[in-house]
Amino acid sequence: MNETIAKLMQHRSIRKFTKDPITQEQLDAILSAAQQASTSSNMQAYSIIGITDKVLRSELAKLAGNQAYIEESPVFLVWCADLYRWEQAAKRHYGEVIPSTTENFIIGTVDTALAAQNAAVAAESLGLGIVYIGGIRNQPDKVSELLKLPQHVYPVFGMCIGVPDQSPLERPRLPRQAVYFENTYKQDAIDSAIDAYDETLSAYMTARSNGKASATWSQSMAGKAGPVRIHMRSFLEKQGFKLE
Ligand SMILES: Cc1cc2nc3c(=O)[nH]c(=O)nc-3n(C[C@H](O)[C@H](O)[C@H](O)COP(=O)(O)O)c2cc1C
Repeated sequence: MNETIAKLMQHRSIRKFTKDPITQEQLDAILSAAQQASTSSNMQAYSIIGITDKVLRSELAKLAGNQAYIEESPVFLVWCADLYRWEQAAKRHYGEVIPSTTENFIIGTVDTALAAQNAAVAAESLGLGIVYIGGIRNQPDKVSELLKLPQHVYPVFGMCIGVPDQSPLERPRLPRQAVYFENTYKQDAIDSAIDAYDETLSAYMTARSNGKASATWSQSMAGKAGPVRIHMRSFLEKQGFKLE
């Protein structure tokens, strides 16, 4: 295993940060790494908003479900899928530009995630820790208003970055046979993989919580089985993503 892969294998979300700041040089390196990610047809259909204003940070933390680390981390970035900038460029040469298609929505969302994950890996390579914040989509209309997002831009997730002040156990992942298939999808591999992972994750939860919790993976996934953030569809439509 080389150094890069070893670092990737050590990933765990960090939710407690020291008060140490992140240097401008570190932030520049993280943002450069993000920008160098692969991007659909070079559209670079994302924008990153760094939240340096304390009041704004605190409002965003509330909107994202009062997750304390949003206020405590030295850097908080909001990652947005952005078809607005592409629209401004394309419009210079083509009369009828349609940013609101389903395909463009997918492009924007994928580009955002690829850039963000490059940033995450870069941050971790510098000894920093990160956690993604999907909670930014709890009240996306209010977040978009605060960040003055134009039409065809939407907040996909946030990301806290800072110096780790905790060393959580690495969270084990699904067995390989549940996620990698040769040539065709193997439905009959799924049940036994879930059984195996239920055991692994229950043991991990027990260790992580000093015996206070022992939920299996399928149990915790059942907790997510109801409708979650069903406002996203109408929000996206309002934000100009008609998904034609
Ligand atoms: C898009 C996305 C959104 C997430 N949102 C949150 C969040 O709002 N709050 C949080 O504490 N963790 C959040 N996470 C972190 C996941 O819970 C975490 O990555 C997952 O449980 C695996 O654990 P690990 O990152 O420690 O390996 C998010 C992760 C992703 C990829």
